[in-house]
Amino acid sequence: MKLRIVSVVGARPNFMKLAPVDRELAKRGDVEHVIVHTGQHYDPEMSAAFFEELWIPAPDYHLGVGSGSHASQTAAVMERLEPVLTRTRPDVVLVYGDVNSTVAAALVAAKLGVRVGHVEAGLRSGDWTMPEEINRVVTDRLAALLFIPSREAGRNLLAEGVPGDRMHFVGNVMIDSLCWALSRAVERNAAAQRGLSDRGYVVVTLHRPSNVDDPATLGTVLDALHCLSRDLPVVFPVHPRAKQRLRDAGLTPGRNGGDLRLIEPVGYVEMLSLVARAALVITDSGGLQEETTFLGVPCLTVRPNTERPVTCIHGTNRLVPPRRDALLGAAGRAMERRPPVRPMIERWDGRAAERIARVLCEDECFEVEAVEQASDIARELSELQDRAPGQMRRAGMFATKEVLT
Ligand code: UD1
Repeated sequence: MKLRIVSVVGARPNFMKLAPVDRELAKRGDVEHVIVHTGQHYDPEMSAAFFEELWIPAPDYHLGVGSGSHASQTAAVMERLEPVLTRTRPDVVLVYGDVNSTVAAALVAAKLGVRVGHVEAGLRSGDWTMPEEINRVVTDRLAALLFIPSREAGRNLLAEGVPGDRMHFVGNVMIDSLCWALSRAVERNAAAQRGLSDRGYVVVTLHRPSNVDDPATLGTVLDALHCLSRDLPVVFPVHPRAKQRLRDAGLTPGRNGGDLRLIEPVGYVEMLSLVARAALVITDSGGLQEETTFLGVPCLTVRPNTERPVTCIHGTNRLVPPRRDALLGAAGRAMERRPPVRPMIERWDGRAAERIARVLCEDECFEVEAVEQASDIARELSELQDRAPGQMRRAGMFATKEVLT
């Protein structure tokens, strides 16, 4: 009998995570992969364009949920998904990321006794004012299979008491999509098409409530972007939510001697193409923090925290408050300190979806605990070595450390 896997997606960042998983599952003859689109995002440029560009087949079910308050959107997904899962009777339901559709689908599946797999599990910002943080914590609590993108995600889950055997350190599916599309994106050269020179412009995306809902904050950020655009063109594809808030606040970008371009949301390949050749990215998106790190492009994240600290510790990302001087100062520093080579993050290698499929179809394990223990031992050995090299050498421990690190 075929393994029946249902993937539930709803919002733009879900689609880049689904695409590589769908491609991997499609290679296997023993899997039936059913795709459910909740309809949380519905504008063609926020949804259909991504299915097309990422070669995702049309969804088997479309729930047509649309926009609403958190409660009504979550409830609508739950109500409309339940009969679909009752009818399809899947072995596993896969949910992606941290949007309202993610937590809603996890709740429905768990209550029907269906195993939930969470792709991009274990991320934590520690910030309960973010709806996404609530979605992450609840989804992880409900999931039987936690597919984690980084070691720190595993550490977060272990600290919450999640047993290590539920976690699989598979890597980052966003990077799978990036690797898959990068050559097309580079070839497309969206910057040149828009009259921009390599590393001679800034890309901006902002849509989080903390940045766009308060007119004063939004005005300050826009003012900083104006100022920056006097030195370099600034391209800002505007999310529908930000567009609405700009309209509500009566904020329009005047020329002001600068080159600030507010444009419609762009597709995945065009965005990647723009980001790959940018001097700097300013964002509050989760995915862009990872993509810029992978590409070695300096990134400023306009937030007080991030659930992706690996992008700050090993990558090109820096957190910055939504203040004019802070933004302008950080922008200058970030561009000056562009890294000469791309940072390498463990298992961000384009093969995360392949590992997920191996877990689902072959019961393979990519346990984090074993890896974690090995790295703890390596760290302890390293500290010991610094303190007492003679003693270590006598004990023949250098060889051990080399193997472990
Ligand atoms: C959602 C996710 C967020 C993610 C973002 C990516 C939650 C809680 N938030 O935020 O984590 O970073 O998607 O885009 O799930 N709208 C449209 N057309 C659309 C979709 C939305 O005009 O196709 C407008 C509507 O006015 C809607 C508003 O955007 O009310 C917000 O949409 P919603 O899906 O609630 O959240 P996002 O802000 O998009």
